[in-house]
Amino acid sequence: MINRPRGTRDLLLEEMEKRKVLEDVFRRTCESFGYREVLTPTFEHTELFTERSGPSIIDSLYAFKDKSGRELSLRPEFTAPVIRAYVEGLRERPKPLKLYYFGPTFRYERPQAGRYREFWQFGTELIGPDTPRADAENIALAYECMRRAGLEDFKLNISHLGVLETFFNERNISEDAGDIYHAIDNESMDDIECEVELKMELETILESDIDKIKNMLNDTSSIDYLQEVLNCLEKYGIGSEKYSVNFSTVRGLDYYKGVVFEFEAESLGAEKQICGGGDYTLGDIFGVEVSSKGFAIGFDRTLIALEKEGKAGDIQRNNCYLIPIGEESMDYAYEVLTTLREDGVPTDIEMMDRSVGKSLSYADRTGFKYSILIGEDEVKSDSVTIKNMKSGEQSTIEKDTLLEVFRQFEAE
Ligand code: HAM
Repeated sequence: MINRPRGTRDLLLEEMEKRKVLEDVFRRTCESFGYREVLTPTFEHTELFTERSGPSIIDSLYAFKDKSGRELSLRPEFTAPVIRAYVEGLRERPKPLKLYYFGPTFRYERPQAGRYREFWQFGTELIGPDTPRADAENIALAYECMRRAGLEDFKLNISHLGVLETFFNERNISEDAGDIYHAIDNESMDDIECEVELKMELETILESDIDKIKNMLNDTSSIDYLQEVLNCLEKYGIGSEKYSVNFSTVRGLDYYKGVVFEFEAESLGAEKQICGGGDYTLGDIFGVEVSSKGFAIGFDRTLIALEKEGKAGDIQRNNCYLIPIGEESMDYAYEVLTTLREDGVPTDIEMMDRSVGKSLSYADRTGFKYSILIGEDEVKSDSVTIKNMKSGEQSTIEKDTLLEVFRQFEAE
């Protein structure tokens, strides 16, 4: 038996339908913010990902050589590819450029609940403006995606990487900063080796609010910038009760520089981060100077979180199963089938010549909302018999009124 590769999933029937509902919510939300869709290739030159992060990232890449010896990798994320696509094809467009994307991404990680080797990201990149209002728009869109999806039990942490950077610079410890960021990101503060006093100060900063930190730094420009972003978030209805300012949010990827943020769904346990993003620099690897901010939602994890809250939407389908009774009703049944399908009503027809009882049982088990029975009587009287599969109610109506009746069902 050949099985699925480790860390991958088959997305089947009901799950696929729930995904479509969520995808649609995210798409409509992005479009309501003026974003437009892009899609980049599934694989890129490996260099695109190692350029900023260094060769160590290769361990988590699906990297391979093609038949001509090119070093390629399946995309582990969309940000670097989208900036590459911007440089190659969208540079001349007026700014701001607001892009969104949805697709599978690949990371060679140790699989566990909520962590896969193939997973889907729904994300955005906002290219051009470098203002607090642009950071606020970025965060507000991510927040709105979660809100419109119906997720309630989540935390939003916001930070500015410049705050820690200023702290390190003012204490002349910038050289060790990389290790410290790493320890903060992995929540392993005990591993940090530095003077006790400094460590206590660092712990204070990681736990403090904006006002307290202002007194610990000489250069307050990053804090002031963050404050402006937060003030602007108010205008979107995202007040301070909806997020935490948390300076231990440092993000794992190497390209971030300014305001960063993460959404967490507590219900997910270890792999609880459902979205991450912020302000970053990547254009410079192509010799282009351009401001960029974005985020990516972990689509699979968000869906699990929604399921846990009972909010993963089912497609409300008024679908029906057509059951022709006897060979004589076949032409008439196919006429009805075509009429319904052309009107967009999802309709299927019995093809296995089963008895009416067995056909109805199949319609019931498969989740059809209605069955339509067409026998000799219906053909003679130009009618159809509709059975509501849930209530069991059955009525015979004129064939010409069928579409009207379905529209009424839809409105109910
Ligand atoms: P990231 O935090 O690496 O950011 O990934 C974004 C989201 O993808 C995470 O918050 C998580 O929900 C999901 N995710 C990551 N790895 C896995 C996995 N192995 N299995 C399931 N879900 C996973 C980025 O990728 C940045 N490109 C985001 C960004 C866009 N920043 C600016 N623009």
